[in-house]
Amino acid sequence: MHTNDIRTAYLKYFSAKGHKIVPSALLVPENDPTTLFTGSGMQPMLPFFLGEKHPLGTRVADSQKCFRSGDIEEVGDNRHTTFFEMLGNWSFGDYFKQEQIAWMWEFLTGELHIDPKRLYFTCFRGNESLGVSKDIESAELWQKLFASVKVDAKIVDFPERDGMQGGRIFYYDETKNWWSRVGTPGNMPEGEPGGPDTEMFFDFYPELGDACVPDTPHTGKFCHVNCDCGRFMEIGNNVFMQYRKTQQGFEELKQKNVDFGGGLERLWAAANNSPDVFYMDAFQHAKEELEKISGKKYGEEEKETFAMRVILDHIRAATFLIGDNVLPSNKDQGYFVRRLIRRSIRFGKELAISENFVGAVAQGFVEYYKTTYSVLGEKQTFVYKALVEEEEKFRKTLDKGLKELEGRIEKRNVTGKDAFELFSTYGFPLEMTEEIAKEKGIVIERGEFKAEFAKHQELSRTASAGKFKGGLADHSEKTTMLHTTTHLMLAGLRKYLGQDVHQAGSNITEERTRFDFTHQEKVSREILDKVEAYVNEVIAKKCSMTTEVMEKNTAKEAGVEGSFWEKYPDKVTVYTVKADDGTVYSQELCGGPHVANTGNIQGTFRIIKEEASSAGVRRIKAILE
Ligand code: SER
Repeated sequence: MHTNDIRTAYLKYFSAKGHKIVPSALLVPENDPTTLFTGSGMQPMLPFFLGEKHPLGTRVADSQKCFRSGDIEEVGDNRHTTFFEMLGNWSFGDYFKQEQIAWMWEFLTGELHIDPKRLYFTCFRGNESLGVSKDIESAELWQKLFASVKVDAKIVDFPERDGMQGGRIFYYDETKNWWSRVGTPGNMPEGEPGGPDTEMFFDFYPELGDACVPDTPHTGKFCHVNCDCGRFMEIGNNVFMQYRKTQQGFEELKQKNVDFGGGLERLWAAANNSPDVFYMDAFQHAKEELEKISGKKYGEEEKETFAMRVILDHIRAATFLIGDNVLPSNKDQGYFVRRLIRRSIRFGKELAISENFVGAVAQGFVEYYKTTYSVLGEKQTFVYKALVEEEEKFRKTLDKGLKELEGRIEKRNVTGKDAFELFSTYGFPLEMTEEIAKEKGIVIERGEFKAEFAKHQELSRTASAGKFKGGLADHSEKTTMLHTTTHLMLAGLRKYLGQDVHQAGSNITEERTRFDFTHQEKVSREILDKVEAYVNEVIAKKCSMTTEVMEKNTAKEAGVEGSFWEKYPDKVTVYTVKADDGTVYSQELCGGPHVANTGNIQGTFRIIKEEASSAGVRRIKAILE
């Protein structure tokens, strides 16, 4: 089965069960300061477990783009990826265990045609100290479904201690069968929702009986579904989100919720009986490109295959992240994009690639994914430019840096201070230096790196730059005037710089507007003058500002300006600046507030500063004098 067929089959199946299909949220969560990235399908759904009403009802399903930064160094085996799509369906106080388990069974065996004999399930063993009992109901529901296809499925306790004993359904403790955004019950802060889960596993090697895959790392005496030997793969997780942590322990939420998440790449692996997810068709174009550039073949030689997986995973992730406007930088989310790209280039060296290749491999992903994630098609030039620019920057220093590091490793123990020098002079991310040092048995003192980093920050006075806060400081008259002016400025920038210019952030106070937008080069004073003139002309013309609610697609086709279309619902609010003669000067998605007429804007618009904000993003400061 092809990747797209699995995604489509899933959404169709749950749509037939009364679910509304929602678009994927962005990879950077909007209202969740607890985490840098969207790492699971449920994150954007959190408010609805706690009782807020979802605009589309109590049954929702989607395919969510996810990025797990913690997995960067896990990549290289046949199953780990930092970026993945998570298929998800949710019940917000609607159906519960019985429906969810029956549907999952039907989906896996009926839609994906997986042989029931290859399936295994795990349930929560219960824990008195948490006040949460054993999930016998789920175990028995799975057992009945097995019985319906004449498979006698034994339920087994303690498989990690006593082995599988011919069972198909197993109980584990809260380290395995409990889910919350932050992990086990002990890690959860007060107020955090979570619950027991029942997980689904696929057996790639039934012929092994009770044994592990030979010559693989595994712990414990017996093989079992959560063993590390690679025999079984978790293909989905049904979380019964029904508790919330309090000071006293766990209390029941007002509603019982279901949170299902299944990695698309893993469901593909099970449906195709391929333990290696990198054979998925989604990787094919990009892989062929990489094979062409390197002259190596995937799957032939172990070390090279490892490097190819790292490169394919990292470039795919960077492509999607840049598509969501996360550009390489030295802080926050941008740092991960930088690490992904630089790490790919370093692994490219293991394939003896010394010319630029990141952009070409990324094109392979854009080709494949743009029909599903249109944002990649729309922004392909922007994504390509950002990748190539980062690659060129790093290539200039990579060889020198590697030589320097190897030289130091030969002579002595490399320290945190060395790692900092490699970072500041050659752009080596700390983790990359750590990895190379580790290969030689050297552990780098992180504290020392951090201390050097802090010293440097203080010197260059970047430490206190602060985070860029979005939006309007207040709703006063002056701020509102500058907000409307900002719309006009964006329209002017797009007129003179081109349609690749989009908003990347804004901060508007009574005194000034500070506006970030996507553009690769410095903007000349000549262009800035033209933009100023454009804005002042519209102010002088006393144009009306009107709003209307439009169908998203209609708005998009009409050329309305907006970034991140994919995150908006089907209906959007559009703000239009129009002169009496019908000329439209700006048309943009927005939530207001704005002046009713540009004639209400007092003062002359002036751009006082234009500078780089981060790679591929420029920042303007402008005022009304
Ligand atoms: N939240 C669960 C997970 O991420 C299921 O969606 O595994």
